[in-house]
Amino acid sequence: MSEKIRIAFIGCGRFAKHFVPLFKAHPEVEKVFVCDLIPERAQKYSEVFEVPIIESFEEAMKSEEINAVAIFTQRYSHGPLVIEALKNGKHVYSAVPCSISIDEIKEIARLVEETGLTYSMGETGYYRTAAIFCREKFASGEMGEFTYGEAQYNHDIRNMEGSFKSSGGDDWKKFAGIPPFFYPTHSTSMILSCLPGVYAKKVCGFGYKSVTDTDIYGTEGQNFYGNPFGNETLVAELSNGGVMRISENRNIGWKCPETFITQFNGTDGCYSFAVAKHFFSRWNPECNTKVIMKDVSKMLLPEGVMNALEKDYEDGLQQIADSAGFFDMSPIQDASRLPESFRNLRNGHNGTHHFIVDDFCKAAATGKLSPTNIWEVARYSMPGLVAHESAMQGGVVMEVPDLGNPPEKFEMLDPYAFEYNQGNTK
Ligand SMILES: NC(=O)c1ccc[n+]([C@@H]2O[C@H](COP(=O)([O-])OP(=O)(O)OC[C@H]3O[C@@H](n4cnc5c(N)ncnc54)[C@H](O)[C@@H]3O)[C@@H](O)[C@H]2O)c1
Repeated sequence: MSEKIRIAFIGCGRFAKHFVPLFKAHPEVEKVFVCDLIPERAQKYSEVFEVPIIESFEEAMKSEEINAVAIFTQRYSHGPLVIEALKNGKHVYSAVPCSISIDEIKEIARLVEETGLTYSMGETGYYRTAAIFCREKFASGEMGEFTYGEAQYNHDIRNMEGSFKSSGGDDWKKFAGIPPFFYPTHSTSMILSCLPGVYAKKVCGFGYKSVTDTDIYGTEGQNFYGNPFGNETLVAELSNGGVMRISENRNIGWKCPETFITQFNGTDGCYSFAVAKHFFSRWNPECNTKVIMKDVSKMLLPEGVMNALEKDYEDGLQQIADSAGFFDMSPIQDASRLPESFRNLRNGHNGTHHFIVDDFCKAAATGKLSPTNIWEVARYSMPGLVAHESAMQGGVVMEVPDLGNPPEKFEMLDPYAFEYNQGNTK
């Protein structure tokens, strides 16, 4: 018998509030519950969003009514909760990152294969306009063979303090000192999602030993991870012979745009980005001595941001620094595949939230794999986890484990080939 999604939010902190209205409005979702270790937070969510409270994660596991969870707990805590939820027969939507342990990632993949349940990680990087653009151009063959790509997530710790303070209490700095590469997926996803089946074979990592936030980063008990690095960078050799450079920076004096590709280069064409301008250049197939260079910013920036830049470039730049366009989609993001019920709902992270929720719901409803399924997410996560080890050892080259492509029994979701309200087949 088919059933719709009845999902419990685990964690009612600063981020989950952007997602409750979307899950509530999705045609495949019948009911949304909320819970938090801090009861007042769940109470507040319950009142604001008019959803029932489930007492705890453990109660959600026991509930026969709840068939899915949305994990919005702190970044270091997802792995064990995901594993427990899958063991209890629940579909899992998880905020990033997947897990900070390679063994847990392997276990999540094993459980998804065994149960056929959905695991989908809410990776905003996958749905960012630059990633969409490079995926399309690479898939069309216009870029030729992949040679080199670089992406980064630049988010200064001073812009993130609120997040850690809100749940970390007196120990917030000990949580905040988490290695940047325990959270690598915003940047790795942007390069690897353009290269189907490709993974990092070897990495070497380097870290910047923070000299300013020495009460957060350091090896003398400043944080729970013995992590001295505020910034981490890796270079990876990819399975297709290409090279990828990834940086996760928290001592960077920079906030917006946070997640971006700087370059994505093929043998025939290149995408490049600089703060407010997106370019695509390519050998002119008509005449091999000329290069076509296009400014593709209009496709990749929200209309409001584009208008601001055209009106007054300096002012437009400042608006970008102040997070202009954070909530808006850009022309390259195709909203036609989204449910009508999302139309007037608030979005986030440059128009990515609607797509993330829709893909999870469609995947859970069909048993097909979302683009950010566990096998793909393992490839986004593991290079960072290994590169942190490498950085701690001064940059030694290390092999990265790979879980392979999804097992053949799974089909990939086509978000366009879906009729809403078909019910959950699991
Ligand atoms: N771009 C992005 O994708 C993006 C942006 C922001 C945050 N995030 C992710 O969202 C997640 C949440 O971030 P946040 O800023 O809201 O954190 P937060 O600390 O504000 O909220 C986490 C909440 O989870 C609760 N919690 C912890 N363990 C629990 C349990 N076992 N049962 C019930 N509740 C529990 C805490 O009490 C807290 O209220 C993080 O994993 C973060 O990485 C992702």
